[in-house]
Amino acid sequence: MDDYQQFINQIKGKTGIDLSLYKEAQMKRRLTSLREKRGFTTFSGYYNVLSKDQQLFEEFLQRMTINVSEFFRNPQRWDVLEYKILPRLLKKQTKIKTWSAACSTGEEPYSLMMLLLKYLRSTQIDLLATDLDQSIIDRAKKGFYPERSLKEVNQSMLNNYFINEQVGYRVKDELKKMITFKRHNLLAERFEGGYDLIVCRNVMIYFTEEAKSELYEKFSHALKPGGVLFVGSTEQIFNPHKYGLETEDTFFYRKI
Ligand SMILES: C[S@@+](CC[C@H](N)C(=O)[O-])C[C@H]1O[C@@H](n2cnc3c(N)ncnc32)[C@H](O)[C@@H]1O
Repeated sequence: MDDYQQFINQIKGKTGIDLSLYKEAQMKRRLTSLREKRGFTTFSGYYNVLSKDQQLFEEFLQRMTINVSEFFRNPQRWDVLEYKILPRLLKKQTKIKTWSAACSTGEEPYSLMMLLLKYLRSTQIDLLATDLDQSIIDRAKKGFYPERSLKEVNQSMLNNYFINEQVGYRVKDELKKMITFKRHNLLAERFEGGYDLIVCRNVMIYFTEEAKSELYEKFSHALKPGGVLFVGSTEQIFNPHKYGLETEDTFFYRKI
């Protein structure tokens, strides 16, 4: 077994994270450059130290996950959500169960909650936000953001939900409390069911075709009939019917 393959097995044994489900060339390149930066010539040498050193381990996690996010990322897509998808979802019901999967530092679930609060009261909204990385989830819960990640947040949302601090903005506690943040590995853990809307954006591009296919299947099962999966702007599903989904708009898939 080669050095990298053994590393994959060791990381899986220790953390449950299966690196073989991520596109290999990309992942190997990222981890090799980190390993070399830390002065290790082999992955087995790197693993021996990493497995005992919390700081090195956290750094490895941060490198393997890519955490870039922003509020209302690809704003035109959020308009489709607001003006086409939501009105349909809310036509027949007054409550909504939603999930922001791979939510990174929280920009996505906070965007979603602010949008939903334009049409619903907080008691009508159930929003779960999850990510693989606990330290990222902790940052999401803190809810502090530099101004540049807020460029798509309108003035009234800024006034209602943020506190302007010297070097950025902090989400008000009342908004934070409306969201349940939790660590969760999409590739290894079970999903809850009964969702009206699942937002999973800009993470599936890192997964292998097999992993993606399994994930679409699981998302489809987790949605109610008529529920919607909202994916990233480079993540179109080519054969949605295979998973019991149909295209409602570009990047929005409705459970049949
Ligand atoms: C580029 S961010 C996307 C954030 C947000 N969804 C957006 O579109 O702006 C990708 C996130 O996926 C998370 N991630 C990677 N692998 C994951 C897995 N197996 N399960 C859950 N989250 C994962 C990373 O930790 C990272 O925060």
